[in-house]
Amino acid sequence: MATLLLHLADVDETGWAARFAAALPGHRVVRRGDEYHPAEVDYIFVWKPAPDAFAGLDRLKAVLSFGAGVDALLSHPALPKNVPVVRFIDADLTQRMSDYVVAQVSMHQRLFTRFRRDQQARRWQQLYPAPAWETTVGIMGLGVLGLDAVDHLRALGYPLRGWSRSPKAVEGVTTFAGPGEFDAFLAKTDILVNLLPLTPETAGILNYETFRKLRRDGLAGSPVVINAARGGHQKEADIFRALTDGTLAAASLDVFEVEPLPQESPLWALDNCYITPHIAAASSETAGVAYFSKAIRDHEAGLKLPNVVDMARGY
Ligand code: NDP
Ligand code: OXD
Repeated sequence: MATLLLHLADVDETGWAARFAAALPGHRVVRRGDEYHPAEVDYIFVWKPAPDAFAGLDRLKAVLSFGAGVDALLSHPALPKNVPVVRFIDADLTQRMSDYVVAQVSMHQRLFTRFRRDQQARRWQQLYPAPAWETTVGIMGLGVLGLDAVDHLRALGYPLRGWSRSPKAVEGVTTFAGPGEFDAFLAKTDILVNLLPLTPETAGILNYETFRKLRRDGLAGSPVVINAARGGHQKEADIFRALTDGTLAAASLDVFEVEPLPQESPLWALDNCYITPHIAAASSETAGVAYFSKAIRDHEAGLKLPNVVDMARGY
């Protein structure tokens, strides 16, 4: 009988535990605070692990990540070495992210920031937004989420550029790879969408220098940044500066250097900064339990674990 331990911070574990118990008959499902011996735990399902999350888990067979992003897990100083980490990849989460990206891209392409200001000033000023086919969207990260966003945006008529670590051929997308092609990627991008994993190479990549390299002759003059990946990708002081000096027309931010975003952050007060509280794409209980229960059952039956993180790449 395999034992699954739930260790979820900032998430109500109760529903997950009940569903896992129902989906895994013949297995033991425990939560922190229950009576169990750490050395009997085979799988840990985890989000934002506490410092002692892995203490005593001597027979662990896999770490199951509640999130699609594994940066917090991989930077945990006590993450057991040589234990595979499985990340969450699922159509439901992917659809939610594409919904977020499409909503934000459309909002900016249609110049809602500008018209919102006009409304507040009771100003009737006609300015016709450029059509989608004249607004280039540049997507950083052509993985599971980036490629799905590409499919959705392509159907809406946006010219697309994509940037990844290794070269890629993607239908309807002008692609760029590696640091050497980053500036060329930015140079014709009007709306920059970040869907990268957070790694030492990508930390702080959304900074003032990056914003200055974006195209400045589309979107009524100033480009836009959308970050739905991780707060560690962005330098918030640079975003504030760029949003107030006109380097960026607007930003949509779902993630922040510190979450929850502190009350004293000056970003809250900017009417061209669209803040959401890390809700772009949640892992749903139904999809998550189905995915990880199958992974556990298959692994117990001798099959391979799905979507194991490459520790050397960091994602
Ligand atoms: P994937 O691992 O499938 O894709 C990552 C992509 O980023 C790949 O195309 C990869 O390139 C590229 N990449 C990685 N490192 C670099 C680099 N140094 N330079 C250029 N490109 C790089 O990830 P997902 O699409 O599944 O998820 C992306 C991120 O989205 C997650 O890591 C997570 O942080 C975030 N996320 C946020 C959510 C939210 O609610 N806000 C919800 C879910 C995820 P290559 O193809 O060459 O490997
Ligand atoms: C994730 C997230 O990584 O919700 O899945 O941020």
